[in-house]
Amino acid sequence: MGHFPATRMRRLRQSDWSRRLVQEETLSVNDLIWSVVVSDTADPVEPIVAMPGVERLSLKALTKAAKEAESLGIPAMAIFPHIDPAKKDANGSEAFNPDGLVPQAIKTIKDAAPNVGVICDVALDPFTTHGHDGVLDGERIINDETVACLVQQALMQAEAGCDVIAPSDMMDGRIGAIREALEGDGFQNTLILSYAAKYASAFYGPYREAIGSATALKGDKKTYQMNPANHAEALREVELDIAEGADMVMVKPGMPYLDIVKSLADHFAVPVFAFQVSGEYAMIEAAAANGWIDGERAMLESLTAFKRAGASGIVTYYAPRAAKVLGA
Ligand code: PBG
Repeated sequence: MGHFPATRMRRLRQSDWSRRLVQEETLSVNDLIWSVVVSDTADPVEPIVAMPGVERLSLKALTKAAKEAESLGIPAMAIFPHIDPAKKDANGSEAFNPDGLVPQAIKTIKDAAPNVGVICDVALDPFTTHGHDGVLDGERIINDETVACLVQQALMQAEAGCDVIAPSDMMDGRIGAIREALEGDGFQNTLILSYAAKYASAFYGPYREAIGSATALKGDKKTYQMNPANHAEALREVELDIAEGADMVMVKPGMPYLDIVKSLADHFAVPVFAFQVSGEYAMIEAAAANGWIDGERAMLESLTAFKRAGASGIVTYYAPRAAKVLGA
């Protein structure tokens, strides 16, 4: 270790060229996954009150977005559906409908932008009347019965052309069950991105408005999503999911959980992604709208922080905006 004055840390910071030369991490468009909310009632788009600047997209609007993603060089899009309440039921059976909104959205992106990767959430919450990610027995979310549904949902998505199956439901054993079913049905090349460390978080609030499950949700998700106070448990979750066949893992939410991103990146030789969730987006946008922070700088700083923590990439509602700034 050096000592002052022989060592002056500010020497390297004194000019733009030297700061650029010693910069450790660089955020690029290749790090971005664009999370999009699709809806069969939007015409062509519908605002989401708690997420200014983000809209629910009709399939027509999704075509345009997919082309934009491709031209900006965004590698992949993640689809989240807003389902017509009339199609929801207690078991979320619309989740397996091969003619449903999600398979249509997959095909829409693939037709518009064949080089953009398509990622789909596996979980029942957009499709259930009660807003939970699984099937209920009384008040309890029943694990193994839910896994059987998730397998069906994942196979339908793979069949529709989805590249990456991303289970976000936090049921035990679902990665292994989905991997086995994919192998058995000839989908050896379908990737699995497991939401392995997903916390029961207040930061999902605006998303639940976005997909229309906010008013539906009874209770909370603490019996399946992780306790925000836990760290070691995230390592166990990831170890299991890798053993069961996950190609990549996700930490969610993002910014309040950078320590988890860092730990996972240090411990496992598997790509780790972070999800900058709806509440994180809403906080930055709300403060920026009030003139309390510089929104664009906060966006870039938050995304760069994920890279510094060791993330291979970030799922973010900011993807197109960040890509434009980065490409400029
Ligand atoms: C649920 C799911 C959630 C999000 C994505 N998939 C929320 C939840 O668990 O209730 C949140 C995304 C966001 O907040 O941006 N399967």
